[in-house]
Amino acid sequence: MSSVLTAARPHRAPTPTTTVAVVGLGYVGLPTAIALRTAGHRVVGLDVDPRRIDLITRGGADLLPHDQDRLGAYVGRPGFALTGDPAALAGADAVVVCVPTPVDRHLVPDLTALRAACETVVRHARAGQTIVLASTSYVGTTRELLVGPLAARGLVPGHDVHVACAPERVDPGRPKHAQETTTRVVGGLSPACGLRAAEILRGTAGAIHTVGSPEAAELTKLLENTFRAVNISLANEFADIAGGLGLDPAEIVEAAATKPFGFMPFWPGPGAGGHCIPCDPHYLLWQSRARRTPLPVTEAAMTALAARPGAVAERALGLLAERGVPRHDARVLVVGVAYKPGVADVRESPAVEILAALSAAGVRVAYTDPLIPALTAGGRVLRHLDPWAPAGDPEDTGPAWDLVVVHTAHPGQDLTWLDERTPVLDATYRLRDVGHRVVL
Ligand SMILES: NC(=O)c1ccc[n+]([C@@H]2O[C@H](COP(=O)([O-])OP(=O)(O)OC[C@H]3O[C@@H](n4cnc5c(N)ncnc54)[C@H](O)[C@@H]3O)[C@@H](O)[C@H]2O)c1
Repeated sequence: MSSVLTAARPHRAPTPTTTVAVVGLGYVGLPTAIALRTAGHRVVGLDVDPRRIDLITRGGADLLPHDQDRLGAYVGRPGFALTGDPAALAGADAVVVCVPTPVDRHLVPDLTALRAACETVVRHARAGQTIVLASTSYVGTTRELLVGPLAARGLVPGHDVHVACAPERVDPGRPKHAQETTTRVVGGLSPACGLRAAEILRGTAGAIHTVGSPEAAELTKLLENTFRAVNISLANEFADIAGGLGLDPAEIVEAAATKPFGFMPFWPGPGAGGHCIPCDPHYLLWQSRARRTPLPVTEAAMTALAARPGAVAERALGLLAERGVPRHDARVLVVGVAYKPGVADVRESPAVEILAALSAAGVRVAYTDPLIPALTAGGRVLRHLDPWAPAGDPEDTGPAWDLVVVHTAHPGQDLTWLDERTPVLDATYRLRDVGHRVVL
């Protein structure tokens, strides 16, 4: 059973105004807290990391300008509180859980943060509350970490407390897909739970699409991000064959994208980073293995994506060899190390692996990224360089680079310093203006 509730006009204040606690104030939780406040709710933001709260308070969080402006208007004012004290949860009418759900180094779901957050939420839950899981996880998580423990505390989910899963769809760094215009999927434990969650979230979304259970909402989110992983992997495959045939991969994708049905453009690149694509499909794969349900397409896509940064490093080493530059004399600059344009986020960024692999091969590496002031790769702290800076260190004068690898091009980033003397490996596939570039 599913339905779409009437699209709510963004920024409309719901009645009656409620107090909503947001647990976890990261890339998802902070914009959610801002959107909830804009929608008219009183907001309490809870985070276990005092440095995060301090950063947000000082206006230093990585946010889109529109969110930064709104946050500036809310911080320190009534109706918007930031705290590290979980006791504040008891005063909330609703709680939205937005903590990270990464994978460990064996690519197994790491629910440490989510378990801790849900334990806290359950401990402070009171009758009348609506509790919404917004974090991405495997199917059954809402029931396992919220419904069961709430019942064990004597609060009957669906009666004393309302529980739902409403996975988040924010797209950090891209104003095109604002939270308030994006449809939100909500799956309640019961129809009443779904309705209560929808009431809370309605003013923060373009529309609410209800599904019949928390599990349906959980699997919807996994489908969305697995779809992206598979298609990015397919775009990489096409880039490899296009390049081998002497064709421009981006030209092919652009042309295919003119088809008005049955095609959606995905772009090749150096791999996939961030907290979604490299992680979420592993929640699905982990669950499918337990159920002995093979998912070979997803498995192959994730394996290929994981291998992509290594392929970039290999191509870079190959280009150095072609130019007759011994690895131990080579200098390589990586341009843009954030996992995607417009964000100051290096989580799972392929750039880190590329830099580490080149460094391990003996190459002297450095990077430049206006959004990333410091970076550790392969256990080494790397130098951030401003390619425009006047030469102070003789090592930094151009064209000193034996190779430049462009990994991420931020919006408006000036790359005109890339001159003909500098060989460029364009892992973005999009630098058409750089005539002397090569791709993978
Ligand atoms: N980043 C994205 O683009 C994106 C998009 C959609 C969905 N998601 C999903 O949203 C969830 C959150 O991701 P994120 O990128 O915002 O993570 P994040 O790492 O940016 O932020 C998480 C915040 O939660 C805090 N936290 C950790 N444990 C806590 C606890 N027990 N109590 C209170 N706070 C705690 C951390 O200190 C941190 O500030 C994940 O499940 C992710 O998969 C992420």
